[in-house]
Amino acid sequence: MIKLTVDDKIVEVEDGSTVFQACEKAGVEVPVFCYHPKLSIAGNCRMCLVEVEKSPKPVASCAMPAAEGMVVKTKTDMVKKAREGVLELLLINHPLDCPICDQGGECDLQDITVSYGCGSSRFDLNKRAVTDKNMGPLIKTIMTRCIHCTRCVRFAHEIAGTDELAAVNRGEHMEITTLLEGAITSELSGNLVDVCPVGALTNKPYAFHGRPWELTKTPTIDVMDGVGSHIRLDTRGSFEIMRILPRGCDDINEDWISDRTRFAYDGLKYQRLDRPYLREKGKLTETSWADALRAVTHLLTSHKPDEIAVLSGPLADVDGLYALKKLMQGHGVEHFECRTQGSKLAPVVREDYLFNATIAGIEQVDVCLIVGANPRIDATLVNARLRKRYLNHGLRAALVGEQIDLTYPYEYLGDKPVDLEFLRDSKHPMTKALVSAKNPMVIVGEAALIHPDSDKILALIKDFSLSNNVIRKDWNGLNILHTQAGTTGALDLGYLPAKSDENLETLYAHVEAGRIKVLYLYGVDDLDFSRLKKAHIIYQ
Ligand code: SF4
Ligand code: SF4
Ligand code: FES
Repeated sequence: MIKLTVDDKIVEVEDGSTVFQACEKAGVEVPVFCYHPKLSIAGNCRMCLVEVEKSPKPVASCAMPAAEGMVVKTKTDMVKKAREGVLELLLINHPLDCPICDQGGECDLQDITVSYGCGSSRFDLNKRAVTDKNMGPLIKTIMTRCIHCTRCVRFAHEIAGTDELAAVNRGEHMEITTLLEGAITSELSGNLVDVCPVGALTNKPYAFHGRPWELTKTPTIDVMDGVGSHIRLDTRGSFEIMRILPRGCDDINEDWISDRTRFAYDGLKYQRLDRPYLREKGKLTETSWADALRAVTHLLTSHKPDEIAVLSGPLADVDGLYALKKLMQGHGVEHFECRTQGSKLAPVVREDYLFNATIAGIEQVDVCLIVGANPRIDATLVNARLRKRYLNHGLRAALVGEQIDLTYPYEYLGDKPVDLEFLRDSKHPMTKALVSAKNPMVIVGEAALIHPDSDKILALIKDFSLSNNVIRKDWNGLNILHTQAGTTGALDLGYLPAKSDENLETLYAHVEAGRIKVLYLYGVDDLDFSRLKKAHIIYQ
């Protein structure tokens, strides 16, 4: 630990900390533009200047390591003048766009200028203008507003792993651009809007649709994948979702969310099922709740309980599932199902379907085997964590499944179940690596779970994990990667058929043979409805 003084307050920080972190610990606000806690340090904006005793010039606190006995001052005339100077220089070329700028009201440059600026400018020359760049359908650019903090470049290089942004030219001619002005392809691209401290990169679908002070902010959890990212919904009026932003949560999504999470909300505005319908003579007609519930009651009471099955969908909430199960069990129904993608997962204990090592636990992993998953699409933030582990500690990864770009290197072992046989060969380099690793991890994805041989694949992996280093008393590195938010909750509530050998395929067979006549679909959309023609369907 290092002990130093910040504005007459003695603080202790960990070895390797910066002066800026010491200031944070002392509760002293230091304005920053280029510094971001989850990105590498660039030290290029100079907004964080502070005075350090015995140093003749102000010091960039984000880039200066804290040292024992240092005396830091943040409220002296020297610091005040330095901050005013930095802002004055930044604003020479910054447009006077605030009233028409989408960042207005939540702009670091605006806020910091109000708090630390000098209030006037001595420059009356023409401002420089920069051509806007095309970054695709999600990111809007107004590059004249760019202050060259390079947060976006570092985000693309370090977190997204796609190296799509760069600063070209030097000095006053410096510009941020994509390669040949191509659209950004990263599945994390929306985070560029969050890291940009000014209005140079903004949310294109949200452009000119709202102002931050007219939005109601509701913290919640994302349901677009199985990760459960912490998010904030910004709504206007009664319930119009205007945008979705991440909430920091180091255990799950850190400061990021995937583009699917951020931009999928427009689908909530159109074609919502917001009133009951009854199918009469093959046509859906609008009806009242009373008539709809009467029809449901009739269907449930005019069939035997073993002729009814209840299915839970990808976005089903645990509250609703619990109430539905209670209702149906009261009626004697025993056929429940949540594996609507066709997985044959038949868990005995809870650990059989969890991501046991946890997402934060990835930061302890040294060797990782991915089986039948594309974490980049299935669980973007899990993949970002694996990349982080690779960058920080050289994670060794291997993949059995579809060959894809995961943004970090891996050993490709094949795409058939037989390619997993190496686990039985103790001399195979990857087997040796898994066995000798401190914290090895195996991630089993949806493609493995829905494979016709999934039972054999799971048995082989579980045997290997139990008899080697993957599952032990202090570490469980065997993880199931679900792609749907509702799966784990439904499994917790036992949404599985009473007979353990039944699955989605046997359910289709029951319907085709006329043994199951009523299906209650709780948010299930992706079934093969051509095979369910004989059943009466209640869709909620
Ligand atoms: Fe104003 Fe900030 Fe927009 Fe610049 S980026 S015009 S300071 S709101
Ligand atoms: Fe910084 Fe935004 Fe410019 Fe990128 S575009 S360098 S994040 S100001
Ligand atoms: Fe320290 Fe930019 S925040 S130099």
